[in-house]
This record gives sequence, C-alpha cells and structure tokens, in this order.
Amino acid sequence: MSKFQRKSISFRLNGVSVEAEVEPRELLVHHLRNDWGLTGSHVGCDTGQCGACAVLLDGHAVKSCSVLTVQVDRADVVTIEGIARPNVVQDALHRHHGLQCGFCTPGMVMAAIEMLGAGENLDEEAVRRGLSGNMCRCTGYQGIVDGILDVVGSRSNAEIYTVKGA
Ligand code: FES
Ligand code: FES
Repeated sequence: MSKFQRKSISFRLNGVSVEAEVEPRELLVHHLRNDWGLTGSHVGCDTGQCGACAVLLDGHAVKSCSVLTVQVDRADVVTIEGIARPNVVQDALHRHHGLQCGFCTPGMVMAAIEMLGAGENLDEEAVRRGLSGNMCRCTGYQGIVDGILDVVGSRSNAEIYTVKGA
C-alpha cells in the first residue's frame, strides 16, 4: 500500500476517454508507459532535456517527464501511438532519412506537429529553433529538418495529424 494518497483523474488518451488512480508524484511518461503500455514515449534523460518523451497535451508538444500525471486531469493527451497512419510528418521523415535508431523520433514528430500546426512561416532556421528541445544522436538533424520543411504548406491540423481513436 502506497504512503501517497492516490487521486482519481479522467482524461482523453489517444481519442478515448479514460480514468485512472494515480499517485500525485507520478510523472506522465511513467504513467503512459507503465499503466497503458504506450512505450513509444521514450525516457532518454528524465531531466527535461532530450525531448524523446514528448506527447501532445491539449494540442501542444510537452515533455511528459516534466508533467505530473495528475496535471492531465480533464486534458487531452496524444502519444505517438495515437497518431493515425498514414501521417504526413512520419512519411516525410521516412522519405528524407530523418531517423536511424528511432529513439528520438516520437518526440521529433510531436515537435514537428506543434511547429506545423502553429501556422507560422517555417524556414530552416525556424525549424531548427523548433527542434532545439529535441536531441538526436544518429541523424545529424539534416534529414529531420528536410522532412519537416517538406511538410510546410500542410497548414491545418487535420492535414498534419489525426488521432486514431477520435
Ligand atoms: Fe523527457 Fe528526456 S526523457 S526530456
Ligand atoms: Fe537515433 Fe535520433 S534516430 S536518436
């Protein structure tokens, strides 16, 4: 029995309404991986630096190792597993060789979705700035940047991604 009082929360997870009993100290990335088996959100650093754990929270890319699970009560959470395929961002990364081991890729996709959905004019400098919170140890970043630039022009969220269960 935990010494921490558990809290009931309800939220949308990949388009489906869910409920959970969670410890107040639990990090969202651990909840997603351990309680829902959504292991596409990777733990690269656990200190908010690498971006491999990024998910969409109410449409914005956030590092799920920096969010407490209780904070997503009544919110909308989308993980990489919830992004319906085909998806223009994932396909563009594939076309431009924007991944190798793939460890960073879920977080890169979330960062790209946030950038592309913001409706701003994106050039290479802006894309690189948008990726500054995401680290990749394999690609050298150029393929990722090229892939995102390839998608610029798909302005509406509906074109950039849809959620499987929604
Ligand atoms: Fe969350 Fe690295 S594991 S930023
Ligand atoms: Fe390996 Fe980015 S593809 S860390």
